[in-house]
Amino acid sequence: MSSYFANVPQAPADGILKLSVLSRADTNSTKVDLGVGAYRDDSGKPWVLPVVRKAEQQLAADPQANHEYLGVGGLPALTQGAQKLIFGADSEAIKQQRVYSIQTISGTGANMVAAVFLKQFKQPADAAVYISKPTWGNHRSIFETAGHVVREYRYCNYTTLGLDIQGMLDDLRAAPRGQIILLHACAHNPTGIDPTTEQWQQIADVMQERSHFPLFDCAYQGFATGDVTRDAYAIRLFVSRGFELLVAQSFAKNMGLYGERTGCLHAVTALPAVLPQVSSQLNRLSRATISTAPAYGAKIAGTVLQDAELYEEWLGSMEMMSRRIKKMRNLLRDKLVALGTPGSWDHVSQQIGMFSFTGLSKQKVDRLREEYHLYMTDDGRISVAGLNSGNIDYVAKAIDAVVRSD
Ligand code: LMR
Repeated sequence: MSSYFANVPQAPADGILKLSVLSRADTNSTKVDLGVGAYRDDSGKPWVLPVVRKAEQQLAADPQANHEYLGVGGLPALTQGAQKLIFGADSEAIKQQRVYSIQTISGTGANMVAAVFLKQFKQPADAAVYISKPTWGNHRSIFETAGHVVREYRYCNYTTLGLDIQGMLDDLRAAPRGQIILLHACAHNPTGIDPTTEQWQQIADVMQERSHFPLFDCAYQGFATGDVTRDAYAIRLFVSRGFELLVAQSFAKNMGLYGERTGCLHAVTALPAVLPQVSSQLNRLSRATISTAPAYGAKIAGTVLQDAELYEEWLGSMEMMSRRIKKMRNLLRDKLVALGTPGSWDHVSQQIGMFSFTGLSKQKVDRLREEYHLYMTDDGRISVAGLNSGNIDYVAKAIDAVVRSD
């Protein structure tokens, strides 16, 4: 019998999500999962933030609460709070009514709405989307699925495992005018390498010279430095320099709302007059793709963002998560140095955010998985949040063993 679907080619498995499947199936007691970027506490367990629990309790106790559809733009308590979080409570752009924010299916949905919107309205119409080399595995897939040509700009210096700022600036300068440049606002995924404030200024200079359009992906605000304002530096710099831009924002990591798919897409325009056109198109795209956004996570995040006491407590939780991750970075570096593991490991403590780009080759990553039940992505990225005082010695010794076996 023939099939209508016979010509559908097999798609490759997602490089990040496949690890969760493999790790779940691995019953070895020494297993360590450093694959997907999800925060774990020091006992290796998912952590529900206390403010999230409190918001859930408030919702459950509210006799007026219901399960009606949200409006097409999403929950205002979320979108307005999210806007202030990204651009600052005293943002001139917000005051001048040059910002529109729409609720999305977390950061991925925000990237996809941005991708479809830009495919329809980008100027010039043949502009490509430039992603960093490397970037989050899903970026290329999202922008190609929406029909864009995707190109890369240099980002990681694979020798030092730091930023290749010269390569990045040269590539942005060499690109035709008016390209769409996807930038990670902070805590670059997968490398953990962020530009300094001076380097962000240089990036903004070149983008202005070349009239490039910035699209920020902001999935880790509060996770990089532990401070939401510092982590929004790049976005606020670009807005203050007069760029029009889009920002994809996720509450998966900083509020621990992974599965609730809570996020926003923000558009900043130069003129208030064009905002209604932009917002109407974003609303139309959202209606066509998800109809209306999911309410539960939005109500939780909206409650936390609007309640001064919960908001303060949340800032403390982000600081705590980021501190624990930094501690694990330093511990891993120190343990590798103490073991005399060949190579320099300073990059592990210098990198920032959820991930470390270890520099381990694919062959070593495979050995770590097969022989040591240690899971990380094929490019050598580890989710530092998966390290804890119970597994760090084992992880350091496993890395030491495979690095020495050259
Ligand atoms: C990751 O990079 O591990 C996270 O952003 C989770 C995901 O959806 O890929």
